[in-house]
Amino acid sequence: MALVPMKELIVKAQKEHYAVGAFNCNNMEIVQAIVAAAEAENAPVIIQASQGAIKYAGIDYIAALTRIAANSVKIPVALHLDHGTSFEQCIQCIGNGFTSVMIDGSKLPLEGNIALTKRVIEIARILEVSVEGELGKIGGTEDDISVSEKEAFFTDPLDAERFCKETEVDALAIAIGTAHGQYKGIPKLDFDRLKEIVKRVSTPIVLHGSSGVPDDAIREAVSLGVAKVNIDTNIREAFTDAARKVVTDNPKEIDPRKMLGPAREAAIEVIRQKIRVFGSNGKA
Ligand code: G3H
Ligand code: 13P
Ligand code: ZN
Repeated sequence: MALVPMKELIVKAQKEHYAVGAFNCNNMEIVQAIVAAAEAENAPVIIQASQGAIKYAGIDYIAALTRIAANSVKIPVALHLDHGTSFEQCIQCIGNGFTSVMIDGSKLPLEGNIALTKRVIEIARILEVSVEGELGKIGGTEDDISVSEKEAFFTDPLDAERFCKETEVDALAIAIGTAHGQYKGIPKLDFDRLKEIVKRVSTPIVLHGSSGVPDDAIREAVSLGVAKVNIDTNIREAFTDAARKVVTDNPKEIDPRKMLGPAREAAIEVIRQKIRVFGSNGKA
């Protein structure tokens, strides 16, 4: 079916206490893997493109690949811009058929973040495109911006309340102890803070940096109100490990399909497993 706005997927998830997986793509094989996994689990799904993915593949390629993938299945698929850096980039993605954009104003002071998010929402609403905002800093490498563990700070529930009230954003990304990329130890999530945010905010909550977070912690976050869970690193690990194994086992292999085929299969497996942890299986 045609790409759908993200909002309808996460509002249903919030009501029914599960989360929709938002999986990062960089190329055709990963787009295919995301859709194949979601179809196998009969799950709604969000395909998202980071700044790195846009630089690597191009907005138009990602939009075209995703449109074809969505049209080939019956489950609902949304296409989302991950960590959008500017008003202009959000508009460019909307123009290319994205059904959802994230405007990441988390580096701005609260007022500036609110103003920028509202500006994007004003246009997005007209075209029924969903908008995700971010409050607080998620640790690790956030696209081009490196946020050291020290500087990373968690979302203030009062700020979250004000941000959601003034912007009427469709989804709110929060910082409660997760980080992008691989973790050095086991991440510890601030569930009390999440509870406090959920008490004050009815907007569906997004958990970034979810690769490497133990399944039980993800389940707990979902039970407390997280409705969208972002996964990139775990897909990269599975994809690259499988491709690497082919090359290691057979150093003379020259056919890229022999590497990318198993990589795609490995990505499908990890995405299916995540979908089951999020509880979105059977919810399409
Ligand atoms: O937002 C987090 C992404 O995992 C960053 O990925 O290297 O494709 O920009 P990227
Ligand atoms: P991970 O790479 O840690 O899964 O984070 C993904 C993410 O939050 C994308 O926005
Ligand atoms: Zn993120």
